[in-house]
Amino acid sequence: MSAPKKLFIKTYGCQMNVYDSERMAEALGGEGYVETKSPDDADMILLNTCHIREKAAEKVYSELGRFKGLKAEKPDLKIGVAGCVAQAEGQEIMRRQPLVDLVVGPQSYHRLPEMEAKAREGEKVLDTDFPEEDKFEKLKNRPKAKRGPTAFLTVQEGCDKFCAFCVVPYTRGAEVSRPADRILREAQDLVERGVREITLLGQNVNAYHGAGPNGDKTLAQLIWELDKVDGLERIRFTTSHPNDMQDDLIEAHGTCAKLMPYLHLPVQAGSDKILKRMNRAHTAESYLRLIERIRAARPDILISGDFIVGFPEETEADFQATLDLVEEVKYGTAYSFKYSTRPGTPAAERPQVDPAEADDRLQRLQALLTKQQREVQDSMVGRDVTVLFEKAGRFPGQMVGKSDYLHAVHVADCDRAIGDLARVRILSSGANSLAGALID
Ligand code: SAH
Ligand code: SF4
Ligand code: F3S
Repeated sequence: MSAPKKLFIKTYGCQMNVYDSERMAEALGGEGYVETKSPDDADMILLNTCHIREKAAEKVYSELGRFKGLKAEKPDLKIGVAGCVAQAEGQEIMRRQPLVDLVVGPQSYHRLPEMEAKAREGEKVLDTDFPEEDKFEKLKNRPKAKRGPTAFLTVQEGCDKFCAFCVVPYTRGAEVSRPADRILREAQDLVERGVREITLLGQNVNAYHGAGPNGDKTLAQLIWELDKVDGLERIRFTTSHPNDMQDDLIEAHGTCAKLMPYLHLPVQAGSDKILKRMNRAHTAESYLRLIERIRAARPDILISGDFIVGFPEETEADFQATLDLVEEVKYGTAYSFKYSTRPGTPAAERPQVDPAEADDRLQRLQALLTKQQREVQDSMVGRDVTVLFEKAGRFPGQMVGKSDYLHAVHVADCDRAIGDLARVRILSSGANSLAGALID
């Protein structure tokens, strides 16, 4: 038998890309590929790309340029571009970078094996269709390898919201939910392979409305089905839109023990004028009332968010409204970005904010968010939490895991194994993690 071919995948962007990279590796695994950690010994390099901000998209071209020498040494090396840049700029990638043999959009991964075969014959292949067939069904023949204790599981993909700044509705396409029974089968399979915590993924995950035996299921109903899976200990989901936060999902946060007290609920801005221009279809007030209801159902829930500063025509007063909203919510963690003009989106046509001003606002917002994040993390000291151990720590006998609230927790003198859950008393709070001791 010939030696297996080696596949190097580099993943950018969101968690869905991480999930997709796993699926692509499995699809090519069927063609005799094994994964390698270095591009130098690869027979195929795949960049799974992100188009969300200009910087993310430009990275792809600089990364591709670096493979020039490698390809010269190894003419059989095939280079592919997948993900959202592939979807948005497929033709242009082929034109701009002749090193690229293969371009595959996020809806066509199940066609990778055929594409790889064509590329091996010297063809340039591009597939950025939105095909009718269910790629997840085509991708389900995965090897039964053992896995780590946490996994992502895509339940919904695409977005119909068309926020004025965002490329996702164009790169991932219209909103589609997977049928509930297939998700349950996949979850069961993951648990059999060692998974204890599943994070349900979707660009608009709480808009989930997948087919079930008695009509469509909501995300909360799907979570209750997953709650029955023996051996599955924790359920998370991301990313939610405020307008799809239905009552049964809010309620589940108070009643479903496996559903973790953590919610990523992006608001983007605190000024109603800007929210309107962003086409967010919610106000600062409606978002704040929603947070109130969620906290009424689950008082200790950790709220996480996304923010954009410097959106076209954002004034200092608009920005101040964002700071006010942040003060009111008190975020446990947050991601904040300077607005990046994306070609083809409505906001790209509007008058832009001075970049230096936007930088300054980003710094001020991040200072506030970092302070809040630290306060929330520090407030864990003295409390008892459950930790799912994910790996060994740097020191002998030390283990590292995540609390229910998704804080990293280091535990010394820990006789537990990866995949175990244990009660831990939090003793101290450091820069980016907590330290604690097992409670016997
Ligand atoms: N589906 C999710 C996340 C989409 S992308 C949601 O609806 O919230 C993740 C984050 O990137 C967004 O929440 C937003 O804060 C940020 N983002 C998207 N487009 C951007 C742009 N053009 N410039 C800067 N940040 C952007
Ligand atoms: Fe983008 Fe808005 Fe859809 Fe989120 S809801 S993916 S920000 S268009
Ligand atoms: Fe990026 Fe596409 Fe995810 S643009 S954030 S990889 S959906």
